[in-house]
Amino acid sequence: MSNKNHHDKIERSVGLLAILSIVAISFGTLVLITPLFFMDETTQPVDGMTPYTALQLEGRDIYIREGCVGCHSQMIRPFRAEVERYGHYSVAGESVWDHPFLWGSKRTGPDLARVGERYSDDWHHAHLMDPRSVVPQSNMPAFPWLDTNVLDGKYTAKKMQVLQRFGVPYSDEDIEGAAAAVQGKTEMQALIAYLQSLGTHLK
Ligand code: HEC
Repeated sequence: MSNKNHHDKIERSVGLLAILSIVAISFGTLVLITPLFFMDETTQPVDGMTPYTALQLEGRDIYIREGCVGCHSQMIRPFRAEVERYGHYSVAGESVWDHPFLWGSKRTGPDLARVGERYSDDWHHAHLMDPRSVVPQSNMPAFPWLDTNVLDGKYTAKKMQVLQRFGVPYSDEDIEGAAAAVQGKTEMQALIAYLQSLGTHLK
């Protein structure tokens, strides 16, 4: 009966119960999460992956700034309906260089994890200028200012240096040429370059 007494003690003391619950949950969490740090499948990029170019990287920042992630996920779940609609489900190796990742959790519009190369650049341009011009029933907002805002490339090299420190394999030449690669391009061109790169390594 000593066993039962132990239980009584724990269940009658809120503090002890809380501490032991935290210990139990933490242990379970560690058992599930720790191995992921040591598995190639979750830490290594998929074969043939290349980091975003300077222009794509600027486009990604515009995607974040404009809140596209609030309406679009970039995470295809391994369910038949999703795979048939969007293509191969997303794997961890595709986002190891994304800091921060943009998986999202809200789908007002479709998932964009594999939208790269699905439409022409002209289609994206028309769609971002006025979504209703190509998808009449669309309720996506228009982003016409992207077409007139021009990039100056002031921080592009800095951003790439920071990512390099997080393990993104940018070469010193990539970083040196970064500003020149984006200067004079419109935000629209950068965003479209980014969209066209999404999910193309595992089609
Ligand atoms: C208020 C929600 C909302 C926001 C914000 C939004 N979208 Fe959309 N998006 C939609 C909806 C709804 C659709 C589906 C109708 C359509 O194609 O226009 C869509 C469709 C798309 C498509 C076509 C996807 C496909 O597979 O057909 C692309 C590409 C896209 N959005 C990109 C963007 C980008 C880039 C941004 C940010 C600059 C953005 N969206 C912001 C709601 C949104």
